[in-house]
Order: sequence, then structure tokens, then C-alpha cells
Amino acid sequence: MTSFQHETVLGPEVCALLAPRDGGVYLDCTLGGGGHAERLLDASGPTGRVIGLDRDPAALSAASARLGHFGERFTAVRSTFGDLRAALDEVGVTTVDGLVADLGVSSPQLDQAARGFSFMRDGPLDMRMDPDAPTSAADLVNGLPEAELADLLYGLGEERQSRRIARAIVAARPITGTAQLAQVIAGAMGGPRERIHPATRSFQALRLAVNDELGELDRLLAALPGCLSVGGRAAVISFHSLEDRRVKQRFRALAGLDAEKDAYGRSLGVATVRLVTKKAVEDSGSGNPRARSAKLRVIERV
Ligand SMILES: C[S@@+](CC[C@H](N)C(=O)[O-])C[C@H]1O[C@@H](n2cnc3c(N)ncnc32)[C@H](O)[C@@H]1O
Repeated sequence: MTSFQHETVLGPEVCALLAPRDGGVYLDCTLGGGGHAERLLDASGPTGRVIGLDRDPAALSAASARLGHFGERFTAVRSTFGDLRAALDEVGVTTVDGLVADLGVSSPQLDQAARGFSFMRDGPLDMRMDPDAPTSAADLVNGLPEAELADLLYGLGEERQSRRIARAIVAARPITGTAQLAQVIAGAMGGPRERIHPATRSFQALRLAVNDELGELDRLLAALPGCLSVGGRAAVISFHSLEDRRVKQRFRALAGLDAEKDAYGRSLGVATVRLVTKKAVEDSGSGNPRARSAKLRVIERV
């Protein structure tokens, strides 16, 4: 596959904060086009190793083609990052010296109408990052009871008009395409026109649900400390507040910052990590539109 175009977000920042070294072992939890993995391979030469995970076989084959010249230093594994422990076991690695997770979808996933992620391009209502996953957006849109659909749009999309939208969707069933869904949503919404497309929040909610993105993130955050060597670092890039809040809270808890304090103000929690970034690192004018909402947080295993 030659047309896989994804502009890497915060590439130099991730690489500087993970500080890869020759001979180290690194994990890219979200291989995508291989942009972060390539930087890690370049910086950990001549013998450092990078394992790249993705649940999307198209990403794995594009990244494998791009990184093939690194030979045995690069290993691609088809896995969700929620299963990172099992993925590392599969390649015989106990702990890594650094890892990165660049959450969400890649530009090719969004841009290909056939993947069904976008309300800008008409395609089947799919939205699965892993095309073999059991549940597509069409299953949710056409199968969920109205109240559950409304809760999903509200909980994962923060869509305040969720009830009106769910009612309109149920009335229009069956809905098979992204353009049809976007039209039904736009038609259901009242109030003044917004800056963003009326279907933005609903599409985000469906995508998060189809791919269980918050569940995956929670499993990644739970497994993280056990997969890092002492001194090893983990970098997570999130793109919206539902994700960033989880990352921030979990990192603070692991660092013992939100644990109960004793009478002398000493933390009663055992810190397993320290925060490398006290505040999230943001893009400083790269011109990459995807980077505008990116927040990068990094911890180090102690
Ligand atoms: C934003 S892109 C990564 C781009 C990459 N960092 C680069 O520079 O080219 C996110 C990738 O992670 C994958 N992905 C998202 N959630 C995943 C999960 N839970 N498990 C494995 N891969 C996932 C997507 O399929 C997509 O290819």
C-alpha cells in the first residue's frame, strides 16, 4: 500500500521525551503510518528495537513497508493496545524502555469513504478500525433501543441534543450510509448553526463506541506500569477531553499525587511512576490540523 498519508503529531516532542538509546526496546502502541516508530528506530540505532502494534491490518502493512529497511530491529504485531501485555509476551519481551500511544484514528482511516468514519464522504456505516471486529456503526445505529442510543450520544459525544437525534434516527431506520446518517442528525437538531458540522459529536460518539476506545485506553493505562522497565517512559497523546482526563487522573494516581495523605501531609499511596510532564505538552505551530487538539503526557517508571 503506497497511499498511506498520515502526518505524525508531536513527533519531535515524543522522541525527545522518550529519549531512546542504542540497544533499548520500545513499543509503539498505535503504529498507524509508522511515523513515531520511525523516529524511535532512528534514535535508538544501531541496535535498538521497536515493536509496533495496530488493530488495523492496512496500517500494519503500510508501516511494515515503510520500516522494512530496519530489518529485525522492527516487529509489527496485530493487536489492540488494551492487550499489550499479551502482545509483548507474544514477541518474548517482558518490559520496554519506552512506549508511545497516539490515540484515535489515522488520516487514511478518516479519508477513505469505504471505512465509514466520515460525514464528509458518503460510505457504508462502518467505523471499525479492525475490519474483522464484530460490531459496526450500522449495528449500533440500527439495533440499539432509542434510550440507549441517546445515552451513547450524550456520554461519548457530549451531545446535548442526544434525545432528539436518537428519536430521528429510530424513525429513519434502516440507515446504511454516512451521508444519510449525517442528514438525519442535521435535520433533527434545533438551535443556532454552530461552527462545527452538526453530526460531529454524534459521529465521534459512535466511533468511540464501535471501537471501545475508552475501554481500550483504560486497559492500556492499567497494564502500563507493569510493562515499563525502571527508568522507562510512557507517552500518551490524546485528542479530546474524555481521553485526556483519564490519562491525567491515572498518571497522577500512579505518581501517588491523588492518594490519601497522613497527618504530616505525606502520601499514603505508593508511587510507581513520576510525572515527566507536569502540564500536557501541546503542538507549537506545526501547521498540522490534527495536532491542534493534541495533548501529550509522559510518565517515568521509578
Ligand atoms: C493516530 S494513528 C497513529 C499514527 C502514527 N503515530 C503515525 O505517526 O503514523 C492511530 C492508529 O492507532 C490504531 N489504533 C487505535 N486504537 C487502537 C487500539 N486500541 N489498539 C491498537 N491499535 C489502535 C489505529 O488503527 C491507527 O492506525
